[in-house]
Amino acid sequence: MITPRSADIHAAWLPSEAFRAIGSRRVLVSGPGTGVETVLREVGQACAQHGGSVRRHSPPLVAERSSEGADSASYDLVLALATDRALPVETAARADLRRHQGEGTDTLGEEGFALVRHGDVTIVLADQPAGLLYGLFHVVRLGESAFGPAHPIEVHRPAMRLRIANHWDNIDVHPVMGQVERGYAGGSLFWRDGALRHDLTRVGDYARLLAACGINAITVNNVNVHVTEAHLLTTRLGDVAAIADLVRPYGIRVHLSVNFASPVTLGGMPTADPLEEDVRAWWTETTRRVYETIPDFGGYVVKADSEGQPGPFAYGRSHADGANLLAEALAPFGGVVHWRAFVYNHRQDWRDRSTDRARAAYDHFAPLDGQFRDNVILQVKHGPMDFQTREPVSPVIAAMPGTRLAVEFQATQEYTGQQRHVCYLGPWWSELLHFAPWGVGRDTVADVAAHGSASGAVSAGPGGGLVVVSNVGDDPFWTGHPLAQANLYAFGRLAWSPELDPVAVLDEWIDLTFVPSATTDPDLLRRTLHEVMDDSWQTYERYTAPLGVGFMVRPGHHYGPDVDGYEYTPWGTYHFADRDGVGVDRTRGSGTGFTGQYPSPWSDRYESPRDCPDELLLFFHHVPYGHLLQSGSTVIQHIYDTHFAGAEQVVQTRRRWERVAGLVDPAVHARVTERLDEQVRSAQEWRDQVNTYFFRKSGVPDAHGRRIH
Ligand code: GCU
Repeated sequence: MITPRSADIHAAWLPSEAFRAIGSRRVLVSGPGTGVETVLREVGQACAQHGGSVRRHSPPLVAERSSEGADSASYDLVLALATDRALPVETAARADLRRHQGEGTDTLGEEGFALVRHGDVTIVLADQPAGLLYGLFHVVRLGESAFGPAHPIEVHRPAMRLRIANHWDNIDVHPVMGQVERGYAGGSLFWRDGALRHDLTRVGDYARLLAACGINAITVNNVNVHVTEAHLLTTRLGDVAAIADLVRPYGIRVHLSVNFASPVTLGGMPTADPLEEDVRAWWTETTRRVYETIPDFGGYVVKADSEGQPGPFAYGRSHADGANLLAEALAPFGGVVHWRAFVYNHRQDWRDRSTDRARAAYDHFAPLDGQFRDNVILQVKHGPMDFQTREPVSPVIAAMPGTRLAVEFQATQEYTGQQRHVCYLGPWWSELLHFAPWGVGRDTVADVAAHGSASGAVSAGPGGGLVVVSNVGDDPFWTGHPLAQANLYAFGRLAWSPELDPVAVLDEWIDLTFVPSATTDPDLLRRTLHEVMDDSWQTYERYTAPLGVGFMVRPGHHYGPDVDGYEYTPWGTYHFADRDGVGVDRTRGSGTGFTGQYPSPWSDRYESPRDCPDELLLFFHHVPYGHLLQSGSTVIQHIYDTHFAGAEQVVQTRRRWERVAGLVDPAVHARVTERLDEQVRSAQEWRDQVNTYFFRKSGVPDAHGRRIH
């Protein structure tokens, strides 16, 4: 492990076997202060398990020659935090690094690290403790190869400063949403039945897992902040501090979701109007107390004027007024406010085809560009709707060059199989991060999140980073479906380095979880996991809602097919299928005008049914069933073909998984098998409902005469 603390908890990535290459060597950890304690403890545990040895070299603060433990000849691995009393081997490694990178470029920053092979020693260099920890986990990933004689110099710095996991966890069990809203992995790691858990051991373990994939912040409560949870800001702040203490050793900061109406509900004030002096004073004082209790507190997350949450609209104020109010209170302490852009009318009239939920975030926020304070981060869902299996990139991401933007992904598989279906999301996120809103060769979504962008010209300011809605809970396998762990891991790695190949990231996760040296047939296991997971997102897409149209899920819990489930509801999620065709006309020419929210070239590509990418056709256009796709197939035949193929692929996956019985922990194998059985059933249900629905609507038979009901 995460050495399981209880027989009921099963390994995630980082079982002790993953530390063999380090733990069997002679290691020196060099650097003063408490920041390196975590590194020391990790290495110490590894050495105790694998027969190696670890020493600490703490350079004295005043100039005096220190040699105790510093003879590099007696070490295989040196993890060295920069000090002005560097070890000889560290000085040599820094010189190698300078030669490699060029003079003046050897600053590694708050979280960066370098790996240098000098003589027979592997040296990890860092400027700050967090960098040393990330460097250690990098050596774990590399295993034996970190000690190869010809290992090249590596330098790593995170692309994104903020890499956050949001937890939609409630303290009180919510009557509809439960302990964790949209959670598919049991209860909360933090809360249980109205209080902080007594045993928080797994929170520390979780922090370790997060640090090992590069995540550096968490929120500990749901964005829908109910009455009890609102008190985390004041009377229950001690609970937040307790969690912060547990995750801090792993370089993780705690943020809090807060309720915009807190001055009224907690402060007993008559108003929460952001322009009222008393309201500002309340937030200033409340925030000061937060930092008094948790000096490294990260900041606030706010869902305002969205799905029933209170916000500035009640007072005739804008989102900028609301966000700036909190930002002002946080600024003296270096905190940030993540203000969510997920704002739309959830009470719309389905008869009104001019209202388009996809437009809402842009319509609300783009006009406010430039009005937010520097420590406001606008947190934008990656798509304009709601974490569907396929959506275009949100046009907000390209519309606000004067605002720090964070892009939000969803690891909890609300719309992607709810951790009962295998759905490795790395390839989907990678595709989104690589999307270039201003056209190929210009800035990408990853660029905007990393350092902001001015209509394609990179600006120097800090971006808002990446956010993921976490998929873990108190489930013995952490994520319900054991293979869903890979999604959290992949998020962290892609947030650190968006250019990584998601299949290579999956390989890392496989090796760190099912460590080859502890497996009888590692090649078969790796091959099988790739066959099961690499294409699983696209497989899921094939048997669910077609061509980007989205939803078609059971209302409420969102699991399983219900083609018309949302069709006549107020939620704004329609497909408009009739006997002639299907899809949403979002064009400027004849539809809602949503395509006009994109810059060129996408505004034109999406506008044209001929040029629009097939996979998004029904998101942007209402077309006849006989419409010819770029693939050469008609829309209706595409629906039949993909649904038969997708369901069949799941049957194959189920068969493949049989091959690795005996190669993985029997409990993990059994849990995955049980989930695959359900996936086979559910995929067939999706296939049959979707195909039957469209056959009945269109009357067009399947060209291959397959069974449609
Ligand atoms: C979705 C989800 C909600 C969640 C919301 C949000 O609508 O179903 O449970 O609260 O997203 O992101 O705020």
